Amino acid sequence: MNFELTISPINEIDATLELIVVVNKNFKHKFVQDKKLLKKVGFSAGQDEIALLIEKNRLYVGIDSISGTNMRTAIATAMRSLTSTKYKSLKIASYMNHPKCTAIIRAMVEGFELGAYYFDKYKTKKTKQNLQNIIISLEDYSAFELNIEKCTLALAKGQITAEATNFTRDIVNTTPEDCYPKVLANIAENLAQEFNLNCKILKPKQLRAEKMETLLAVARASRHKPRVIHLTHKPKNPKAVISLIGKGLTYDSGGLSLKPSNSMVGMKLDKSGACAVLGIMKAVAQMNLDVEVHGFIGAVENMIGGDAYKPDDVLVAKNGKTIEIRNTDAEGRLVLADVLAYAQQEVNADYIFDYATLTGASVVAVGHYTSSVMGNANEPKDLILRGAKLSGELATKLDFNPHLKKLLKSSIADISNISSSPYGGAITAGLFIDEFIEEKNKNKWAHIDIAGPAFVEHTWGENPHGASGAGVRMTLRMLEKLSND
Ligand code: BES
Ligand code: ZN
Ligand code: ZN
Repeated sequence: MNFELTISPINEIDATLELIVVVNKNFKHKFVQDKKLLKKVGFSAGQDEIALLIEKNRLYVGIDSISGTNMRTAIATAMRSLTSTKYKSLKIASYMNHPKCTAIIRAMVEGFELGAYYFDKYKTKKTKQNLQNIIISLEDYSAFELNIEKCTLALAKGQITAEATNFTRDIVNTTPEDCYPKVLANIAENLAQEFNLNCKILKPKQLRAEKMETLLAVARASRHKPRVIHLTHKPKNPKAVISLIGKGLTYDSGGLSLKPSNSMVGMKLDKSGACAVLGIMKAVAQMNLDVEVHGFIGAVENMIGGDAYKPDDVLVAKNGKTIEIRNTDAEGRLVLADVLAYAQQEVNADYIFDYATLTGASVVAVGHYTSSVMGNANEPKDLILRGAKLSGELATKLDFNPHLKKLLKSSIADISNISSSPYGGAITAGLFIDEFIEEKNKNKWAHIDIAGPAFVEHTWGENPHGASGAGVRMTLRMLEKLSND
């Protein structure tokens, strides 16, 4: 999609369609062009409500108040309604008389790109997206101290962010038959080539040498051999060093603790953490952020078979801790345990974040749209929550407590891979991972359970049916902040 910022008044811009955002209370109290007609079609300017006046070539969308989040979802909703239509170009006013105009421009651009997303890889009839040119008018700009350079930068960042989110969505939506550990590794290598990142791929032999036996055990019954991926963005004199770790279960059948049929459907989503890390690394390189960022991915398929790992096994993790396996479906934490240990061995980071579709319990606790953020210290949790707020992603803290930690006790090993209680499962999973965070890093780490928002089977806000790219936008906002300080 092409974006153009112009100072030309909206009426002088040549485009096949105009998108007009109407603030709810203005529709009630102020003059709005086409008001009669809009009322006739039942438009009341509610948030995300749309009305297309075909003969006027105007599309209206309602918004509760002018904010980045409202603007992003409203524009994405409008954009979704235009898929497969004939319109080639669209113009929109930029609502410059708002103090946060650069944030609004960024949200708009993200809304356009995120709303235009569709996934038709497996359809024989392909979607036609004619709308490719978006012209944003900065009319009225002279009345304010507006910096065109800042607006242009906001536009570019919005576009990179949304494209990275869509890139993540594409990989998550790809079937487990087409996307397995080696494929994730190839994607990482291609990213590295195109965007000048460093890339190291560990294959089974190296994984064995690194003593990543729990990861190898989870992978054992699959015909697809596991990979650990390490991507690096390394500027000179970075402001901070950050490690990002993604759970990359390209399929989670549950293993021998096999999932019931209905719960297995959709488990291609279990690579969402890994795909988020890939998207983030792409955008970090494109924005050339002034932070050193390491992306680690544990890419594994959890299957059944004669040599599958079993409930009752005791595995030795990379950090030497022994784990009693009581449920092979709690596999993500096993993979993360080894990859986190590896990440801490390789990089002395200021902050460590892991992204995982780790528990159904997180979805039960906070619902489908929100990520759960856990950890020992507030600083890294607050960093990611602030990023989420700015980006329009939803995230909330789930607090650790010592009582839940006791539920992970094992009578034959150092720790059990599941809790002895069915309650508080998102937190006990987080507490399990905490066992693999080195003492010196305890307060540098936050765990983000993205099981809720990563893949939802209906459209919501700026997100389509399927993969949302959860984690990408919140993390980019956070990294941008760390880069500018
Ligand atoms: N990948 C799943 C978690 C999940 C469930 C993600 C639903 C998205 C939607 C994870 O590996 C898993 O199976 N977790 C178990 C843990 C249990 C065995 C302690 C779960 O949530 O049931
Ligand atoms: Zn599982
Ligand atoms: Zn899983």
